[in-house]
Amino acid sequence: YDYDLLVVGSANADLVIGVERRPAAGETVLGSDLAVHPGGKGANQAVAAARLGARTALLARVGDDAHGRLLLDSQRTAGVDTVGVLVGGAPTGVALITVDPSGDNSIVVSPGANGRLTPADVRAAASLFHASRVVSAQLEIPLETVVEVVRALAPDSRFVLNPSPPRPLPQEILAACDPLIVNEHEAKVILGDACVSDRPEDWARILLAKGPRSVVVTLGAEGSLVASSEGMTRVPSVRVSAVDTTGAGDAFTAALAWRLGAGSSLAEAAAYASRVGAAAVTRQGAQDSFPTAEEVESL
Ligand code: RIB
Ligand code: NA
Repeated sequence: YDYDLLVVGSANADLVIGVERRPAAGETVLGSDLAVHPGGKGANQAVAAARLGARTALLARVGDDAHGRLLLDSQRTAGVDTVGVLVGGAPTGVALITVDPSGDNSIVVSPGANGRLTPADVRAAASLFHASRVVSAQLEIPLETVVEVVRALAPDSRFVLNPSPPRPLPQEILAACDPLIVNEHEAKVILGDACVSDRPEDWARILLAKGPRSVVVTLGAEGSLVASSEGMTRVPSVRVSAVDTTGAGDAFTAALAWRLGAGSSLAEAAAYASRVGAAAVTRQGAQDSFPTAEEVESL
């Protein structure tokens, strides 16, 4: 394989304002100076993996505009192969982000060019799929494009999905996931009426019955739960004080996908990924906050 990881997904310009608290409907609050960072769940995953040392490619679409150039620059600086980044068709996606003093964020995404990443774009990138050991995706691109991604997978490659933002998933996608990575909110949306319990072990069991070969439930400060036909294990979190959680989940997913491709067990990969995610929350921004492998070792 030429690539350890192919990420298929979104690229957004993150427009970030720090606030004391979020405005209610009809209210105006004053915040910090505006910061513009490269973001988007797909672009974030690709940068996170490349920083760790993974040979990484990104399949995405950006606009022919300044935000698109910002995103291409950050991918190239991190060492991501951008041969699969398509340009044009709509403005680059934008995420309007507020971050509060506890480091929690609220995000509104305008998909823009991400919404124009089509199944035909996936088919045209067949050579990237054949060259990639692991393929990861999220849901800031059209669902029919993600369906085409699972059809495009090479026979021996592995598919990792973080269904964010969540929506009910077709069987064809669920059956391809190894693992499906969800937080509590995402688990509940995907389970829908099947969610009858408050125990993550129950969510994982019912999710597994829907077709994924493995499931990872992320539980914030409680760590994560990894589950497959071989059983379930809790993986502890790494305690850090949060500055900005934006993109930490993307870094977790990318690190997990990369370690799995390198032969780690699900529990080993989740333990490594939680250290990567922990490092990311201690710094401002998404991509700018992702650690190198050396930084993960020293944590
Ligand atoms: O997961 C964090 C990302 O979500 C941000 O970078 C923002 O672009 C949104 O896509
Ligand atoms: Na961060």
